[in-house]
Amino acid sequence: MHLLDIHSHILPNVDDGAKDLDASVELLKMMKEQGITDVIATPHFYASEDNLEDFNERITSSYNTLKKTVEELDLPEIHLGAEVFYFHGIRKSAGIRSLCLAGTEYLLLELPNCSLDGNIIKNIIEINSNLGIIPIIAHIERYSKERGFKKLLELIEKEIAYAQVNALSVLQPPYSKTVNKLMKNGYISFIATDTHSVVNRPPLMDLALNEVEKNFGKKYSDMYIANSDKLLKIIQGAANGK
Ligand SMILES: [Fe+2]
Repeated sequence: MHLLDIHSHILPNVDDGAKDLDASVELLKMMKEQGITDVIATPHFYASEDNLEDFNERITSSYNTLKKTVEELDLPEIHLGAEVFYFHGIRKSAGIRSLCLAGTEYLLLELPNCSLDGNIIKNIIEINSNLGIIPIIAHIERYSKERGFKKLLELIEKEIAYAQVNALSVLQPPYSKTVNKLMKNGYISFIATDTHSVVNRPPLMDLALNEVEKNFGKKYSDMYIANSDKLLKIIQGAANGK
């Protein structure tokens, strides 16, 4: 069984994550110690600031540099994705397919920290129904106080979207209570590090999985590992053109 981290700012010098190659290597070494075998690099994409082509060129170049080092040092395997910040009209943007997680149809989607109005909910539904892309809501715990959160949970119940929580949020306030509640009710599919640096959200995957096991039993923590392994198999299938 592999353990895949689906959300990380591990690429050197592309966003507010790892500032250079040494910083990326340091984080990947920590991840390896925690049992992580595979990592999806998910640099921030803001449609208001970036153009899709330039962004893809920039992250691919950074990814290729890191990939070479990872292979030399026998670190967790890296895969390329993005964390896409919600933008008006995303439901009609076929181009976002190039930002899906490592050639799959899953898109890591970050929502604005404001009320989840009908427009946002409609866009999420139509990303799925019109574009055939399945959103994974990044760190869903952050939005639990927003108006419209219940509607978001309904989309998850219907498997129109999936949800990810941050490892740090599993472990401590202000989000640990919310995370426990969401986990207990079956809304969460993935735990990820969302690591930016050794100071800002360092990888805490092993501690988070231990906490889940302590709170809900091994069946739960095993389920999150198995979900990550399932996604990795889809990634590998996509890479082999299946
Ligand atoms: Fe992130």
